[in-house]
Amino acid sequence: MKRLAAATLTGIAALAFSAFAQAEPDGEAIYNRACMACHMTGAAGAPIKGDADAWAPRLEQGMETLYEHSINGFQAMPAKGGQVNLSDEEVKAAVDFMLEPVL
Ligand code: HEC
Repeated sequence: MKRLAAATLTGIAALAFSAFAQAEPDGEAIYNRACMACHMTGAAGAPIKGDADAWAPRLEQGMETLYEHSINGFQAMPAKGGQVNLSDEEVKAAVDFMLEPVL
């Protein structure tokens, strides 16, 4: 029994390590796949990538709020852009990529 528990723990540690060792999520690829449809065109009133005026009042909320709204949704913005299988880290990377030109 003890050995089983130890083996399980080792397995968990290995998993945690491999998640940690993974490369940073690719914000650009995630943006292109999950966010661009709305944030390049302004569909449904989405603030357009690179439009500093549209982003200025949103940026005032702070990055944490912008991450939170991207992950959980905010008015017409669907949670994770509708791609519920994205991890929180992947969504944050896409936010970073999207806001990079207006920061
Ligand atoms: C179906 C269209 C759609 C998709 C796909 C989409 N968004 Fe949005 N997003 C919106 C709309 C519309 C708003 C504006 C919401 C409002 O203020 O009413 C918005 C707002 C935002 C905001 C600003 C939130 C705030 O607090 O002002 C961020 C950040 C954001 N989106 C990130 C993302 C990211 C990252 C993705 C991809 C993972 C994504 N969006 C995909 C439609 C979309």
